[in-house]
Amino acid sequence: MTANWTPDSWRAKQVRQMPEYPDVEKLKSAEKQLENLPPLVFAGEARSLKSSLAKAAEGKAFLLQGGDCAESFAEFGAKNIRDTFRVMLQMAVVMTFGASCPIIKVGRMAGQFAKPRSANTEIKDGLELPSYRGDIINGIEFTKEAREPDPTRMIRAYNQSAANLNLLRAFAHGGYANLHKVQKWNLDFVADSRQGEKYGEFAIRISETLDFMEACGVTPETVPQIRGASFHTSHEALLLPYEQALTRVDSLTGKYYDCSAHMLWIGDRTRQVDGAHVDFLRGVDNPLGIKIGSTVDIDELLQVCEILNPENEAGRITLITRMGDKLTERLPKIIRAVENAGLKILWACDPMHANTIKTSNGYKTRSFNKILNEVKDFFAVHKSEGTYAGGVHFEMTGQDVTECTGGTYDVLEENLSERYHTYCDPRLNAAQSLELAFLIARMLKEERSDIIS
Ligand code: PEP
Ligand code: CO
Repeated sequence: MTANWTPDSWRAKQVRQMPEYPDVEKLKSAEKQLENLPPLVFAGEARSLKSSLAKAAEGKAFLLQGGDCAESFAEFGAKNIRDTFRVMLQMAVVMTFGASCPIIKVGRMAGQFAKPRSANTEIKDGLELPSYRGDIINGIEFTKEAREPDPTRMIRAYNQSAANLNLLRAFAHGGYANLHKVQKWNLDFVADSRQGEKYGEFAIRISETLDFMEACGVTPETVPQIRGASFHTSHEALLLPYEQALTRVDSLTGKYYDCSAHMLWIGDRTRQVDGAHVDFLRGVDNPLGIKIGSTVDIDELLQVCEILNPENEAGRITLITRMGDKLTERLPKIIRAVENAGLKILWACDPMHANTIKTSNGYKTRSFNKILNEVKDFFAVHKSEGTYAGGVHFEMTGQDVTECTGGTYDVLEENLSERYHTYCDPRLNAAQSLELAFLIARMLKEERSDIIS
């Protein structure tokens, strides 16, 4: 057991990015209810994800993590879940087949509700109200009532996550994700695009390969990996009362797991060495991500890694860099420090969060080319440092939204208003996501040929 740790020891530390609940009794009652509800994931699943991530850290697999910036209550439904799941399957197939590399699929799904904000309040037309912090905390509407933090929202978020996970598990193991369906996953609006056509050609080649393998006796009945997909969930462990309430002792190992998701990450704004979020996560045995921006202090980062992973267990820590055009200058120094300390780390690239801009007409957006360039830089730096570019982390959706500019359909700034639906940051749409998958498959193939040669 972790020394001096209990699921609530974080409460004695400084808690950043936490809402101020006006009614403390109501908060306690919501926490109590959550404590009595079943866990959303099983500890064994988190352990198996951790061992897959350990393989990725050695260059033997690659992490694809993606989903909404912020899930919402209003946009929840089977179609949205299916479309995001499907585009992640398509991306994974393109990367697996294109680079001959196992792809670990982890959704920012079924729990990605709470958002860190740069300001505590928002002012509109002279009225100042608390910032929107995600549907698990308050409402997005700009009214006093909606913006008041309401702890019962945690119960609703839990219930939505449970229903979401139920459908994801059904899709993953009930036949939808069977590799023989690879041609059926082509989304309608993607199928007509250049990416869709390219995917269609890929799918035909995969189907031919599967037919050949079937003739050799390798069938969905004999090989479960053909029959279904392995899929895990993740979110930012930001709202600690929620995370604590879903933390349970695993009956098999006696260790604590945060059973709100398989993998949890700690944000760029809440990873202070002496802060509440680091304290909470050090005691749970799930695989963890740590977001690092270009301003990260290297010594502090090494300390946080030591606190969160004192045994230096492989697969425990994924460092998710989000540095934009500072990456080429900053990342080599960080990699060298981590290598010198002998830390076992999986490196992943979030090319979204340092590439957000505001357009003149007030939309937050990101350029497809900047996103792609950050991924390219990430691969190039790892190549020159002799380490592995082991994963990517995207804000994306299976919907045909217009939130990021560029890509196949060349979304322009003036088109952003057409289908701009995000509750927080701009997401890649399905076609843009698929396009990135093809480009990453090429980079990954090159990285793997370097490993083999
Ligand atoms: C996020 O992933 O949605 C996020 C807020 O990231 P970061 O902590 O890197 O800003
Ligand atoms: Co975001």
